[in-house]
Amino acid sequence: MILVTGGAGYIGSQCVKILTERGYRTVVFDNLSRGHREMVLSGEWVQGDLGDGDALAGAIRRYGVRAVVHFAALALVGESEERPHEYYMNNVRGGLHLLDAMLKTGVDRIVFSSSAAVYGEPAALPIEEGHPTRPTNVYGGTKLIFENILRQYARTYGIRFISLRYFNAAGADPEGAIGEDHAPETHLVPLVLDAAMGRRPEITIHGADYDTPDGTCIRDYVHVRDLAAAHVLALDRLEKGPCGEFYNLGSGSGFSVREVIRSAEKVTGLKVPVKEGRRRAGDPARLVASSRKIEKELGWKPVCSDLDTIMDTAWKWHRRRFEGK
Ligand SMILES: NC(=O)c1ccc[n+]([C@@H]2O[C@H](COP(=O)([O-])OP(=O)(O)OC[C@H]3O[C@@H](n4cnc5c(N)ncnc54)[C@H](O)[C@@H]3O)[C@@H](O)[C@H]2O)c1
Repeated sequence: MILVTGGAGYIGSQCVKILTERGYRTVVFDNLSRGHREMVLSGEWVQGDLGDGDALAGAIRRYGVRAVVHFAALALVGESEERPHEYYMNNVRGGLHLLDAMLKTGVDRIVFSSSAAVYGEPAALPIEEGHPTRPTNVYGGTKLIFENILRQYARTYGIRFISLRYFNAAGADPEGAIGEDHAPETHLVPLVLDAAMGRRPEITIHGADYDTPDGTCIRDYVHVRDLAAAHVLALDRLEKGPCGEFYNLGSGSGFSVREVIRSAEKVTGLKVPVKEGRRRAGDPARLVASSRKIEKELGWKPVCSDLDTIMDTAWKWHRRRFEGK
């Protein structure tokens, strides 16, 4: 039995789906502060908060949990700068409660959802795992702190962990059952689709004067299904092989904001209204991952992370969710 914290969220719910397909049993632990109960398509369900150590230990004992996949977190960069206290309490203190519950119940395996935000400004591209970690916002800071706690708990208490540093998760379940629904939404793909279908007046390009071929920022988008699949590989590795590792998860190819908009227009057949705005502080021109390490060591291969597949699956989901089509 696998405990999936944050399993009612965008990536966690996709992970539950793929774990079920691969024969794992799951129990989701989520407080629904940002997630949706109906996104949890299978397995057991506990509504609870990471702040409640007894509820965590209770769920682990009741369902005979053997390993944990830890998605639950607050994950908005801007919000983290405005409300740092909440981010440290939720992402760091909440994570410590989870580790304590694991130690109390004898569970020693955990896969952690980390982020490209641990790196900060890129010093070299593509970004490899050995790149310096200098987060430029509170959110990235909380992820780095928890990675360091995991390192320490591995040394002192024998916790076996793998930390997956995601770049930009995008796309939806290829079968159309689940997908992205954040409020507020800050991710480019759903924002562009909202603009295409008139749910927002336009999409703002934050800076069109970057040193990139079309002047807009380049990011590495990885399909949520490919991301979810990596967690199954990580769980398998924790059972058998060496652990205490950090892996990037990206597609290795970057797309600019304008390329994402063009792909949305192609896939939807609709015009995306665009407004050019000023650069946002702390937005690097390019962020592209090297995922060679996880490809080599765990055999991960992105299979649906090309931009048009990302857009096509996201569009099918988006229309169903927000237009009932
Ligand atoms: N979406 C991305 O592109 C991306 C990129 C890098 C890292 N990540 C990380 O991946 C994880 C999942 O991201 P997501 O996009 O699915 O986010 P999400 O907000 O959709 O899901 C997070 C889930 O955690 C739950 N949660 C939050 N705090 C909780 C608490 N204290 N107790 C119990 N449940 C709690 C929320 O209700 C939600 O269901 C996060 O840890 C995030 O930091 C996401």
